[in-house]
Amino acid sequence: MKKIIVYSEKLKQALKIVNKVAATNSTVLVTGESGTGKELIVREIHKRSHRSKGPFVPINCGAIPKELIESELFGHEKGAFTHAIRSRQGRFELANGGTIFLDEVGELDIYLQVKLLRVLQEKEFERVGGTKTIKVDVRIVAATNKDLEEEVKKGNFREDLYYRLNVVNIYIPPLRERKEDILPLADYFLKKYCKLNNREELTLSNEVKEILLNYNWPGNVRELENLMERFSILCENNKVTVEDVPLKLLENTQNTQESKALTCDNEFIFPTLSTLNKLNLTLKEFLEEIENRLILEALKKSGGVKNEAAKLLGLKRTTLIEKLKKKKLLV
Ligand SMILES: Nc1ncnc2c1ncn2[C@@H]1O[C@H](COP(=O)(O)OP(=O)(O)OP(=O)(O)O)[C@@H](O)[C@H]1O
Ligand SMILES: [Mg+2]
Repeated sequence: MKKIIVYSEKLKQALKIVNKVAATNSTVLVTGESGTGKELIVREIHKRSHRSKGPFVPINCGAIPKELIESELFGHEKGAFTHAIRSRQGRFELANGGTIFLDEVGELDIYLQVKLLRVLQEKEFERVGGTKTIKVDVRIVAATNKDLEEEVKKGNFREDLYYRLNVVNIYIPPLRERKEDILPLADYFLKKYCKLNNREELTLSNEVKEILLNYNWPGNVRELENLMERFSILCENNKVTVEDVPLKLLENTQNTQESKALTCDNEFIFPTLSTLNKLNLTLKEFLEEIENRLILEALKKSGGVKNEAAKLLGLKRTTLIEKLKKKKLLV
């Protein structure tokens, strides 16, 4: 059984809604960037509901070809189409007495959106090629990483369906906006994968923790989980150090966005006081940021070989190492 790690106030709030809504039959829409834990939350809703002994039936609306999804959802009768040699139940029937999870609901074809709307309103439908109306007792939970309001504006998603699905909304914020969860999650996954890979427990050095806290995690919890799995396979010592961290993480920190202001097309422009002001940095911080970026770029270009990186920077190897130590980029 998967555990939910939650330290941040933002995720705690989301789980509070889970608690309140689980006992009801209300339709729930779970939103958030990719990898934030939407499916985990949806399963939790089912687990905590009075339907927990009933089936949990997921369907990924984005992964099934358009021609097949209608019969996947609603089933079909024998002879409904060329390959329908026998009649078959769809996921809505299979979910009777339980929960159906419509993942990536934003990908659903407009025609099917109409059919879904009817199921939401009447809890009834017909199989493809069938005439008999089937009634089901199903709780519907949907998830999407799309901005459905935006999709409604663009005409890609029916407004009436959006309101029907969005009775209760649970938004899971991206990991970079709930930093309190980063280290506990890292710890949890590191333990899990060390155990799975039969190795002694690994710990993270303080410098690595600092990097994890400052990275912007575009792939959210899934990306963090994959990184910990990678550490559990590749780390040679019992402590994860900066050398084990992929350069992408060193580069792609949250300062990146602000630092873009420092670059200029093809031409170097000396910064002015207004640059400092705009970036909200002191002179010392500003110079340090420039130094860090150049060092990281050189390390990346040299594939982490310090001798090469020092050459690119016009520094002695020992000076570079000194700087890395001072900046706590090296342990
Ligand atoms: N708070 C958490 N505690 C423990 N594990 C978590 C947490 N959040 C996410 N995970 C784990 O991270 C991974 C990704 O989560 P999940 O598949 O639920 O994300 P998702 O939002 O559905 O992603 P996608 O949009 O890509 O489908 C899973 O292995 C999940 O168990
Ligand atoms: Mg998912």
